Amino acid sequence: MEEVRKMVPTVDFRVMNESLKTRISLVIVDRRKSMVFETNDDAKEDLYEAVGLATYTESKSIAASYATIFESIWRQTELYEQLKVHDTLQKDFINIAAHELRTPVQAIINYAELAIADKGQREKYYDRLLHSVNRLQKLTEEILDAARIESGNLRLSNEVFNLTQVVAEVLADEESGIRNKKLEIVFVPDKRKIELYGDKARIARVIHNIVGNAAKFTEEGRITVKTRLDEKSEEAVVSVADTGQGIDLGILPKLFSRFVAKSESGTGLGLYLSKNIVEAHGGKIWAENNSGGKGATFSFTIPASQQRSRQPVSTQTE
Ligand SMILES: Nc1ncnc2c1ncn2[C@@H]1O[C@H](COP(=O)(O)OP(=O)(O)OP(=O)(O)O)[C@@H](O)[C@H]1O
Ligand SMILES: [Mg+2]
Repeated sequence: MEEVRKMVPTVDFRVMNESLKTRISLVIVDRRKSMVFETNDDAKEDLYEAVGLATYTESKSIAASYATIFESIWRQTELYEQLKVHDTLQKDFINIAAHELRTPVQAIINYAELAIADKGQREKYYDRLLHSVNRLQKLTEEILDAARIESGNLRLSNEVFNLTQVVAEVLADEESGIRNKKLEIVFVPDKRKIELYGDKARIARVIHNIVGNAAKFTEEGRITVKTRLDEKSEEAVVSVADTGQGIDLGILPKLFSRFVAKSESGTGLGLYLSKNIVEAHGGKIWAENNSGGKGATFSFTIPASQQRSRQPVSTQTE
């Protein structure tokens, strides 16, 4: 088929079913003429005899009928292929989600049992229990959001919020997690008040993930978080630069796809969700390794212009 395609590049050949023994090839030219010929017929001795049964017509209505029939079959074949891909994706998603959920659930069971059995160490086990419960809650929310994105049902809440304030809150939270590292977080906010309109909790989650990643992949040095209002493009720009190991070059091209991760503790949903949340707000997100070879910088934008007028949106999958 590849050879035939090369010989006649202007004709759109489609194979409908490779396994069909009796192959009927139909050529429809300009929807005005059609030719049907068999290349292999059990009743005939050889190809030439089979092809000898070819029918050629210049009848517009016959050609149009063929075109309609085949277009409908092609469409169905395409839909079937799409369904098969979707089905595989869904199975992968369920498998990974189930695997990821099992870890904190098992930890919760273990710590609860330990807390019951060992009263003396109860406080310690409660602490770990709470940690696992929080992890489970975060994971559940992420998996639910990923499923909502897949089905085009991610609904954003709409509220006015102060970006600088949200970033400051997230950073205060993240700072508690890096106390045992030689790492500092520096916040350089825009002097102007940046008021945005959108889903405050989800934007906070995007910042959490990006700063959390910077903290996870940086052993020492600095995480610099900047907010800026770009008056020309009327958007808020948030950037997070770290001095860590930098993004693995193998995953860089598919960094924002789901379940793409190169980390000991991570699902690989964070950046996928971040991208979808930012884009649902009409913004952009990107990442690059810093020149000079130390660390990475993640940036995203949220339009500041479409305040208040925007309706709740639902994102579509790619
Ligand atoms: N600041 C960074 N420096 C180096 N690599 C990074 C950085 N941020 C992200 N990455 C890479 O991108 C991958 C995907 O990030 P993502 O946030 O989607 O997943 P994760 O952090 O591994 O897991 P999750 O966020 O779901 O808990 C990471 O596993 C890591 O390999
Ligand atoms: Mg992450």
